Amino acid sequence: MNTAMKNEKAKPRKTTDRGELRTDDLEVIYDSDAGKTVALSSTSLTINPGEFVCVLGPSGCGKSTLLNVIAGFVRPTGGEALLDGQAIEQPGADRSMVFQQHSLLPWKTVRANIGLGPKLLGDIEANSTVNHFIEMVGLKKYEHHYPDQLSGGMQQRVGIARALATFPRVLLMDEPFAALDYQTRLMMQENLLNLWEELGTTVVFVTHDVDEAIFLSDRILVMSASPGRIVKDIANPLPRPRDQMISSEPKFMAIKRDCMEIIRAESLRTF
Ligand SMILES: Nc1ncnc2c1ncn2[C@@H]1O[C@H](COP(=O)(O)OP(=O)(O)OP(=O)(O)O)[C@@H](O)[C@H]1O
Ligand SMILES: [Mg+2]
Repeated sequence: MNTAMKNEKAKPRKTTDRGELRTDDLEVIYDSDAGKTVALSSTSLTINPGEFVCVLGPSGCGKSTLLNVIAGFVRPTGGEALLDGQAIEQPGADRSMVFQQHSLLPWKTVRANIGLGPKLLGDIEANSTVNHFIEMVGLKKYEHHYPDQLSGGMQQRVGIARALATFPRVLLMDEPFAALDYQTRLMMQENLLNLWEELGTTVVFVTHDVDEAIFLSDRILVMSASPGRIVKDIANPLPRPRDQMISSEPKFMAIKRDCMEIIRAESLRTF
């Protein structure tokens, strides 16, 4: 692991008053040839600026739909989503998304992929922005490589650097580490917390993995299917900075038990 990526010491959190997300009574009904699907129903939430919120829930409960509404890719059929009080109506540079599989341009190098956003936005310091983020994700040695010359973990690190290089107010992450092996996933989680602690960006992170949600978050939203909605909002007071050893502590176990109880009850209800 690159030394720049190690969880060496506590970094001061940047405080910011931007990046507040709110959804009011959000509803998304997809209407396709196969019929209507209620993907989200009565979904109201507030996420504070700089907060790290994880969304947990079974397949098909509307997690990606929620992220897509916040990203501006999907228009709700009811209610609204707001960023800093402004209704979200389309995608914008103030929100970035990282997907489960990397969505890098295969014909561009690591450097060019990360630089795309800053250049499009007219960042006059695009080159130094790119240098900064390549260093932050520990890929200086690979800056002239192409995506298919990198491991899965490295590709995701490029994806995260690319998402952050436009200095978004909100980082949306849709199971970004799900395709990685266990050890790489743990390393990526620590790396992500280091980046977040430095930048103070609001993060909404979707996962199926209860341990991952507890390790990363300030708060966990548990969703349920039929219809998709938030059934529980669990505060996560575990101290920061964190490393993976925290998962063996009683406080971690207690939060895990809360999450498991809710997931189990909801599974039985919808079975
Ligand atoms: N474009 C679409 N057209 C029609 N139905 C859709 C569309 N996208 C999602 N759905 C349906 O909406 C529901 C929620 O889907 P969504 O992808 O948000 O779930 P998810 O919680 O992210 O699931 P997973 O954990 O498997 O990624 C599902 O029933 C899905 O089949
Ligand atoms: Mg999904």
